[in-house]
Amino acid sequence: MPAPRPPKWPLEPASAELRRLIDACAEFVVEQIEILPTLPSCDVEGAEPVAAAFVEPPPEDGHAIAAILERLRPAVAKSFNTAGPGYLAFIPGGGIPAAALADFVACAINRFVGVVAAAPALARIEAQVIAWLASLMGYPKESGGILTTGGSLSNLTALVAARADRLPEDFLSGTIYLSEETHLSMIKAARIAGFPDRGVRAVPVDRRCRMRPDVLEAMIREDRSKGLRPFLVVANAGTTNTGAIDPLPEIRDIARRHALWAHADAAYGGFFRLVPEGAARLGGIEAYDSITLDPHKGLFLPYGTGCLLVRDPETLRRAHAGRAGYLQDVGLGGGAPNFTDLSPELSRDFRGLRLWLPIQLHGLRAFRMQIQEKLDLARDAHTGLRNEPLLEMLDEPQLSIVAFAARPDDRGPELLRRVNARGRVFLSSTTLGGRYVLRLCVLSFRTHADRVRDAVVAVKEEVRRLPRG
Ligand SMILES: Cc1ncc(COP(=O)(O)O)c(C=O)c1O
Repeated sequence: MPAPRPPKWPLEPASAELRRLIDACAEFVVEQIEILPTLPSCDVEGAEPVAAAFVEPPPEDGHAIAAILERLRPAVAKSFNTAGPGYLAFIPGGGIPAAALADFVACAINRFVGVVAAAPALARIEAQVIAWLASLMGYPKESGGILTTGGSLSNLTALVAARADRLPEDFLSGTIYLSEETHLSMIKAARIAGFPDRGVRAVPVDRRCRMRPDVLEAMIREDRSKGLRPFLVVANAGTTNTGAIDPLPEIRDIARRHALWAHADAAYGGFFRLVPEGAARLGGIEAYDSITLDPHKGLFLPYGTGCLLVRDPETLRRAHAGRAGYLQDVGLGGGAPNFTDLSPELSRDFRGLRLWLPIQLHGLRAFRMQIQEKLDLARDAHTGLRNEPLLEMLDEPQLSIVAFAARPDDRGPELLRRVNARGRVFLSSTTLGGRYVLRLCVLSFRTHADRVRDAVVAVKEEVRRLPRG
């Protein structure tokens, strides 16, 4: 029998072929998810040759889907297992499958949501998701925002909105206040937005890594007396290092007294507000001018899902909107804003579906339950570790991060290496006040009590086995 002729237009597979391709990918995905708990929590040894195998010219003729997925298998495996239950390093998220389904649908339908006129109901879905997030943060109805690719872009967008709102066009004397514990993305944002490094002030923190409001106020006064223009203060609603929450109401009051824009970086911590315990700790966030949220952290979504909320959406519009002849047919937006007027982006993915579909499918209750579980698990880990005399706990967890040091500190790197080498959990480290500190961050929706117990056992066993000297 002669081989079947290749289709004339292979970029548009016939329905039966499309189904076959989808089935093959679905099979691959289900298998990848099924094996997650059995995989080492980090497996990058020998990754180089796997990576090198992808250095090649593009094929002129296509390959079979099975062969393509087969090539991906080792590439996925040789990685930090960021999707797995043992991933307790940096800031986990997990990546709920429902969001992958949403992305699949969004890419396949490929509608344009950057302007309302192009897909009014889909733009409304995205605006509605933003309104849901705003209401979860205690923001009023008139507030708004934009979905971004992550916290870094949200922080940059907030800074640009604050600059446009509070400073003249010649803004180089503008001064930004953040804490010594603020995420690097904010400092990068200041640079990208054109501020000299001297315009960024790091306010010292207290014993629990929280910004000191008394020092903040003194710094603002001093800078103002020197003719500088203080215009923005960034408060942490959960620092990356330890989950510390800055005194949100006090910082907001100082901002108000000195006419500064108050931004809350809640990229890690914001979604803890979905449970009463978290809401109590994040009290006051609702009064901030803007809030960075990362659904790819606290809502367990896949990487690439961030959000910036603003109390007054006009501030975003003033910082970003403009006119162009080639957009004259699409109007100014209606029920939902033209998202392109609120951010640097024009064409982009339909991010709203990534949030909307999972929330529709599971309901908020499922998220709240898991968020509470993360707080409980962090407490369990802290309780499990605190009686170990060879460890020093840095603080009670303010959210879901447990930070601790080996005694003496210099045994920390070897402790981390040994714990991670066991393969069940993967922790990371940081430097705090010049000290080497290990951190255990519980945030994946796949992490449950059994894995946190394994982490506690691994740390205790390994710290006792370290050579004393
Ligand atoms: C507090 C905080 N802000 C900002 C960011 C940057 O977010 P992204 O990695 O989504 O760009 C992070 C990331 O961990 C963070 O923890």
